[in-house]
Amino acid sequence: MSVTEQPAPAPGQDPGADAAADQLRDRISADSLTTRRDYLRIIATVSGGLAIGGVGVAAGILHRHGDSETLPEAKKVTDRLAPGQSIAFRFPGDEDRALAVRLADGGLVGYSAVCTHLACGVLWREDRGPDGELYCPCHEGVFNVRTGEVAAGPPPRPLPRIFLTELADGSVWATATARSGEPLKDALCREFGDSHPAASRQLGCPGAARTTESRRT
Ligand code: FES
Repeated sequence: MSVTEQPAPAPGQDPGADAAADQLRDRISADSLTTRRDYLRIIATVSGGLAIGGVGVAAGILHRHGDSETLPEAKKVTDRLAPGQSIAFRFPGDEDRALAVRLADGGLVGYSAVCTHLACGVLWREDRGPDGELYCPCHEGVFNVRTGEVAAGPPPRPLPRIFLTELADGSVWATATARSGEPLKDALCREFGDSHPAASRQLGCPGAARTTESRRT
């Protein structure tokens, strides 16, 4: 199966995922990461995110992953990620630990690698069940690798998602983030905001039409 034929993972998929994939593809093109837009066939997996850790976040000391009101600059994660592989990377900032996982069925997911309990590093354990699991060794925290939801242990919230986009050449890019538990559409509407009105309209973001009207008058 070619990359372009791969279905996006169903679990957690938002109805606006297709539109979101188009917008994220355009985002990469706009950033001049490639000039051949027609060549880009995106498999967008709406996943992951990143947070900075339970204590610091709870205390308001540290920023939470996904808090930005604008899209971060797209970042290449890897040239290729084969089924059964994972890769650690930093996104959106150089201090923001993140993890991308290619599941056995081809699904591609990305999350913050910062545990929502006390900010220890989260790992992928491939040998735990059919999909493996995201595991925090500090206090035996476990997250569902397809959704980021807490499966066991003390973490209070799901892992924030990172939006991953795969190009036809197999390269994987991180393009946007979401807060813990935040739906795809809400995250993209927040980050597209007023700076990308066409994208906001396509996604059906609240206030997008109103913004457009006000700009006409
Ligand atoms: Fe991850 Fe406690 S820091 S379970």
